[in-house]
Amino acid sequence: MRKKRMLSLIFMIVLGLSARAGTEKTMENLKAAYKGESAASAKYAAFSEQARKEGLLPLAIMFAATSKSEAVHALNHKAVIEKLGGKVESESPQFTVKTTKENLDDAIKGENYEMMTMYPEFIKAARDENATDALKSFRWAMETEKKHFLIYTNAINALNKNDVKSLPRVYWVCPKCGNTYDQAKPEEKCAFCYTSRDKFIKFDK
Ligand SMILES: [Fe+2]
Ligand SMILES: [Fe+2]
Repeated sequence: MRKKRMLSLIFMIVLGLSARAGTEKTMENLKAAYKGESAASAKYAAFSEQARKEGLLPLAIMFAATSKSEAVHALNHKAVIEKLGGKVESESPQFTVKTTKENLDDAIKGENYEMMTMYPEFIKAARDENATDALKSFRWAMETEKKHFLIYTNAINALNKNDVKSLPRVYWVCPKCGNTYDQAKPEEKCAFCYTSRDKFIKFDK
């Protein structure tokens, strides 16, 4: 009887280990993504303040919204890290604030890297390792970064034409997945996670 119990205990330990093994790459990626999203959130908050100082209110509102969106991504990644038994380390992010035009260039480069290189690689690894929670968190972030890329591209075009006034002044951020809408009235439900519109966080000042 004791032998049987011992065998089942060993079996459960092996099963537990094998479930955990194989998500090592994803854990490493989640930590890198958490660090990147936390830094992006802090950086965009600083870019928002810079735009406000330059009297570019639509851009200040835009960066405040994207800062919140990146914070949602960071929190989602953190929750998955903890669910998988890992821990995040807090670090103070490194970035430089320049003029709003230069800040926008920097933001576009960052989004481009995340949507074209970083998240596609992380998504592939998460799929290979069958890490479904990480996969969802990475996908929500990647789809949002594509929208941020377009929002910033529009903004820089308007800035170059001296036509910042034409830019949206209302943004909405989904509190669950970070999806960002640059329109007065967004869809009834978030296109990524189906959260209803009344839960969205509004940015308009
Ligand atoms: Fe972004
Ligand atoms: Fe959402």
